[in-house]
Amino acid sequence: MKVTIVGAGNVGASCAEYILLKEIVEEIVLLDIKEGFAEGKALDLTQTTSTLGFKSKVSGVTNDYSSTSNSDVVVITSGIPRKPGMTREELIGINAGIVKSVSENLLKYSPDAVIIVVSNPMDTMTYLVNKSFDIPKNKIIGMGGILDSSRFKTYISKFTNHSQHDIDAMVIGGHGDTTMIPLTSLAKCKDELLSKIVSKDELSKIASETMVGGATLTKLLGTSAWYAPGASVSYLVNAIVNDTKEVLPCSVYLTGEYNVEDICIGVPSIIGRNGFEEVVEFDLDQKELEMFNNSVKAVKQTNLALDGLI
Ligand code: NAI
Ligand code: 2OP
Repeated sequence: MKVTIVGAGNVGASCAEYILLKEIVEEIVLLDIKEGFAEGKALDLTQTTSTLGFKSKVSGVTNDYSSTSNSDVVVITSGIPRKPGMTREELIGINAGIVKSVSENLLKYSPDAVIIVVSNPMDTMTYLVNKSFDIPKNKIIGMGGILDSSRFKTYISKFTNHSQHDIDAMVIGGHGDTTMIPLTSLAKCKDELLSKIVSKDELSKIASETMVGGATLTKLLGTSAWYAPGASVSYLVNAIVNDTKEVLPCSVYLTGEYNVEDICIGVPSIIGRNGFEEVVEFDLDQKELEMFNNSVKAVKQTNLALDGLI
């Protein structure tokens, strides 16, 4: 199995590192537009082979798409990240052009690959790839919800003292500070509903800290986060290449599921070798349904900025 990661920056390199460590695939190609950068990251990672003890190989190239040929999965992290005070939506002007041209190049050499879109605003970038190329919609997956769910679990653990490993919780909706929906009504700690363990006030604090989870890190780091984003992408790559059929929150093209269509937005999706196989319709409470519909409106509004590109 071969994975190409475009963008050897913070998220791309981190993702490569976790894929290597977990030996998810045999071969990783890192590609970046910055001369020598991907080669440097790949060489540095290769020099961890003996100390970390993995067998997979990684190589780096500057804009040479022929090296990416026959990839099973391609990951797009190229583009600019947010700076403190910026929203993900503000990145669209620069990132849309990058994501479109990168996808076009990738598809020339790996027409059957599953495409994972990470660049922000992620739901809109995933929609852009869907609308720009005639490929099956199940092969295009936006990653954001796995990350947001891992942040949700972090805050649930902080408020309940339960280990993150005992927490079952998911975030759906858009991957934006105001558009994501931490599903507080369904979250569980050791099979017990979170809403029975914490107060209403604590429940809403957990949700609001989750929603600004990315902004909190951007403020602390001066740029957006990479460890948890990279790990979340590697988790998704693993679900695809090992055909796990796990239900993961992913941004996928909807054609009537949750009563919406012509949008990519985070919903529980069964992930396997062919990408997303099916959308799972959860029983949302009234408030969550209303939030989902508002999220759909906001993401559709952001998609309008693609006018002229699709
Ligand atoms: P970064 O700046 O560290 O890395 C981006 C890399 O993309 C740079 O090395 C740059 O040279 C490269 N690049 C730019 N244009 C390119 C092109 N046309 N072809 C190939 N490479 C190109 O940024 P970072 O932190 O890795 O973030 C990358 C993107 O991922 C951002 O848009 C960020 O907002 C997004 N992101 C999304 C998350 C999600 O959950 N969906 C989580 C974290 C970041
Ligand atoms: C994050 O959630 C900014 O999407 C990026 O960290």
